[in-house]
This record gives sequence, structure tokens and C-alpha cells, in this order.
Amino acid sequence: MTHIKNLLSAGDVDRDFAIHLLDVAEGMSDVNDREIKKLPTLRGKTVVNLFFEDSTRTRISFELAAKRLSADVINFSAKGSSVSKGESLKDTAQTLEAMGADAVVIRHHASGAANVLAHSGWIQGAIVNAGDGTHEHPTQALLDAFTMRKRIHGNASSGKGLDGVKVAITGDVLHSRVARSNLLLLNTLGAEVHFVAPPTLLPANPANFNATLHYSLDQVIDIEKPDVVMMLRVQTERMTASYFPSEREYARIWGLNSDRLVRLKDTALVMHPGPMNRGLEIDAVSADSPRSTVLEQVANGVSVRMAVLFTLLSGERA
Ligand code: NCD
Repeated sequence: MTHIKNLLSAGDVDRDFAIHLLDVAEGMSDVNDREIKKLPTLRGKTVVNLFFEDSTRTRISFELAAKRLSADVINFSAKGSSVSKGESLKDTAQTLEAMGADAVVIRHHASGAANVLAHSGWIQGAIVNAGDGTHEHPTQALLDAFTMRKRIHGNASSGKGLDGVKVAITGDVLHSRVARSNLLLLNTLGAEVHFVAPPTLLPANPANFNATLHYSLDQVIDIEKPDVVMMLRVQTERMTASYFPSEREYARIWGLNSDRLVRLKDTALVMHPGPMNRGLEIDAVSADSPRSTVLEQVANGVSVRMAVLFTLLSGERA
């Protein structure tokens, strides 16, 4: 098991360390079920949430995770800053360093921003990537893996990976940092990944991806019989061109709806990282069905982020 100082990519964690993080998260979820949901573990440590891009659940989730571990939390929303990107990141980082941040959780619209921060020398503390452009979102991959493991293995999850689990990641793969991080972690944990999307929304360099590519969600459901269907949000804010004829057409061909839902195998899970475009990539029946793990993913996000902050900040003491 290789310990890491920063969590920048889902590819940073080897299998043993990933399973260790999921097992620690399991313990944290027990804390989250208690009446007093607090541990003294990170008392005296300062965690900064540095968000250059909009976020609801990820920011709140990291904030809650840090608070439940008794860390001091600073929320820095840098959106709207007029300084040029590079300078603003450097200046902000140096300010946070002067204030003694032990961990910086960063979300940024530029791919690679977390790596820049980690390798700049501006900050001594741990850096956690909470989403950088279209690149990666490693804690989302961890919480998705945690959710799958818990649904599939139940109370016997501890120590286990996701060997042989077939996951169909469907929709706007091209713009999705969630898809990229999930692919890396799912491969590490032994799962089989299928990407399903219109040709315009699949990555241009499939050889670099250890996933099988498909254009038809119907075929994947009927032939591949996936254990998990993970729907991705259509990210119109990152689209510079027209990638599909119309929203209606997209929903009809690539959306998860009640017709497709009933054709999934009995035990199949429906996942979505949120925020959902209901009626576009997923309909209300699918989003609210007992197979849907959408709200479990949100709840598990807090436990997983507690595990990440705890493990990075307490190092070998873990
Ligand atoms: C994702 C993100 O921001 O990358 N959402 C999230 O973190 N819960 C996915 C998305 O925005 O579609």
C-alpha cells in the first residue's frame, strides 16, 4: 500500500490504498449514523475549501466532513475574481499558506489546477482535487465505488474491491471528470468499464482508455447486462458546439427512462453524481426508483471525504 500526500487523481491510489480508504470510510459512516456525529481527530488542523467553480454538494460535503473531524474550516469562494488565472491562484495559495492551511481542497475550471498547486511549492499542506475542469474528480470516484461496494457486498464490504462488476458510464463522457476518475478507480478495483454515448461525446482517443465504447444504450442494457448504470449530466456549460440534434432526441436515445429501467437486470443500480437534468439524461421514475443510489451517493460522499481528510492529514497515525 502506497501512502500519498495529495489526492490529485484517482490514479494516485493503488488497489490496497483505495480499499483502505473505503474501509476507513466505512468506519466514518458509522460515526455519521450516531447521534453525536463528531470525532476529535483533526482538532487544531485547518482545512480550506478553495472553490473557483460553482458547486453545491461537493463543497458542502467537504465542509461537513472537515467539521465532523473537528478541523477548523475556511470556505473561500474565488469565483468572479478579476485577476488572471495563474496570478490569482498563486496569490491565493500564498495567502492560505501564510494562514497555516493544513489541507487545501480545490475546485477549479482549469484542468490541472490541483496539480499546479501541489507542485508549485506555494503550499506545504495536503492538496485534494475536488474537480479540475474536464480532467478529474477523485473523491467522486471514491464515493461512487463506496456506494457500489456497499450495495453489492452489504455488511461484508470491508477489504473488498469491485472485481467483475460491470459498469456502464453513460452520457457526456467527453466533458466528464467524473467519468475519467471513475474509469481509473474502477479499473484499479477490478471492475469492467463501458462508456456509452453519442459518438460526439465520447473521448477522441479511445486507445488511451481501458473501457469498451458503445453508441447504443439499448444494446448495452440488453446485451451487456450491466450491474451499474451510471448516468452523467449533459454539461452544456462546457459545450462549445452542438453535440446532438436536440434535447428530445438525446433523451430518447441516451436517456434512462422507465422503459429502459425495467429491462435492467434485477440487481442493477442506477447512479448519478448530481446535479441531475431530470427529463434529459434521466427521467423522474429512474431517478426516484429504489435502484437509484443518488441520495446514498450524497450521504456516502461525507464519509468518504472524512476518510480522505483523516488519512491525508493524520498520515501514518491512521
Ligand atoms: C460533478 C462535477 O461537478 O464534476 N458533480 C459533483 O461533483 N457532484 C458532475 C457534474 O457536474 O455533472
